[in-house]
Amino acid sequence: MRVLLGGMLLIVLLVARLTTIVTIAQNPAAAQVKNPVAARPESLAEGKRLYLRYCASCHGANAEGGSGNDLIPAAPDLTDKEWKHGSTDGEIFAVIKNGVPPELNMVPFADQLKDADIWNVVNYVRSLAK
Ligand code: HEC
Repeated sequence: MRVLLGGMLLIVLLVARLTTIVTIAQNPAAAQVKNPVAARPESLAEGKRLYLRYCASCHGANAEGGSGNDLIPAAPDLTDKEWKHGSTDGEIFAVIKNGVPPELNMVPFADQLKDADIWNVVNYVRSLAK
């Protein structure tokens, strides 16, 4: 009986662990992409400038999410631990570059921002993590 219970507990733990991994990698291909831009002060400053220009209208000046617009869903908080579309640098990069299809309430920035700019924004957003 004890062995059986122990075995079941192990399985439950394993499944929980797998679920965590799946939750982290929402976009496994993008999650593999390494951030080529170091989060140095210049990168963060440039990322902040771009963020305020392109993102703040929806996500808020402090990136804590926007309710001041009619978007459904509202633009999420980018400073919390919840990353619906993936929490790695590569996944955040992919969301900014390609938007979130099919609705594209999160608009794609591929035409407006160069990859290096997007990485600067990724670094800036990451620096806001609570
Ligand atoms: C037109 C409004 C709008 C603009 C501008 C905008 N976003 Fe978004 N963003 C959204 C919405 C709405 C979502 C939620 C999309 C969904 O889940 O369907 C979102 C989602 C995201 C996510 C995914 C968050 C998660 O939990 O996984 C990231 C990252 C993000 N935006 C970053 C940015 C950055 C950086 C910029 C500026 C370059 C930006 N957004 C500009 C509306 C916007």
